[in-house]
Amino acid sequence: MRLVLVGPPGAGKGTQAQFIASHLAIPKVSTGDIFRSNVSGGTELGRQAKAFMDRGDLVPDEVTIAMVASRLQEEDAQAGFLLDGFPRNVPQAETLKKLLADWGMRLDLVLELVVDHDEVIRRLSGRRTCRKCGRVWHVAFDPPSRPGTCDECGGELFQRDDDREETIRHRLEVYQRQTQPLISYYADDGVLLGIDATGPVDDVTDRALIALRRFLR
Ligand code: AP5
Repeated sequence: MRLVLVGPPGAGKGTQAQFIASHLAIPKVSTGDIFRSNVSGGTELGRQAKAFMDRGDLVPDEVTIAMVASRLQEEDAQAGFLLDGFPRNVPQAETLKKLLADWGMRLDLVLELVVDHDEVIRRLSGRRTCRKCGRVWHVAFDPPSRPGTCDECGGELFQRDDDREETIRHRLEVYQRQTQPLISYYADDGVLLGIDATGPVDDVTDRALIALRRFLR
């Protein structure tokens, strides 16, 4: 299955992506995670992406598309993938459609996580991420048993640089302006399915899996 998760910053894409991808036994391809690991690894790609990420702007399309195209050609993505954070604007969506067509493939489904603005702010301001395994926590909604330490692997938790109030506001504006148009783009393609992404994480996962099962039938 070839699946895209779309929704505003903080909608829970990363959180749901890990459960859905593992349920479907397909790799999760998160452009944000790939950029962040390149930034912390000090690579050339990370150097190119960092200033855009720190401001909350999109990394230029040519950099992002080349990275995704290369990732999707890896062996583990041939039977399906879950894209988290890509595409992020209509030009990226059109390039993805063309790439997949060249490979004899198409997207099966775009799952939109629908959450309101205030909830997104609450989620982003309390998010903590594990430096070691990448597991995402929330200080109030999904806290680890020991503050600052990941329950999964014992790694140290940190707050993302782009989760400062100013940057969050800018990321939401960028979402409205550049990413929101994808909703009607994919609705017109007949592959969009929206789910209510409010409430406990497990409830959202259940809703997503029910929607997927209905779609797969
Ligand atoms: P990226 O990492 O993709 O950031 P984003 O889209 O802004 O999304 P987030 O990761 O902030 O949120 P999320 O929806 O994954 O929420 P999460 O599950 O963490 O991108 C970062 C940057 O990289 C971009 O700004 C850009 O610069 C660059 N970039 C990436 N892709 C690009 C592209 N295609 N083109 C160009 N540039 C690109 O959840 C948030 C919090 O809420 C967590 O603490 C979680 O525990 C909590 N939570 C989740 N679900 C629930 C729930 N149901 N109830 C309560 N709390 C919940």
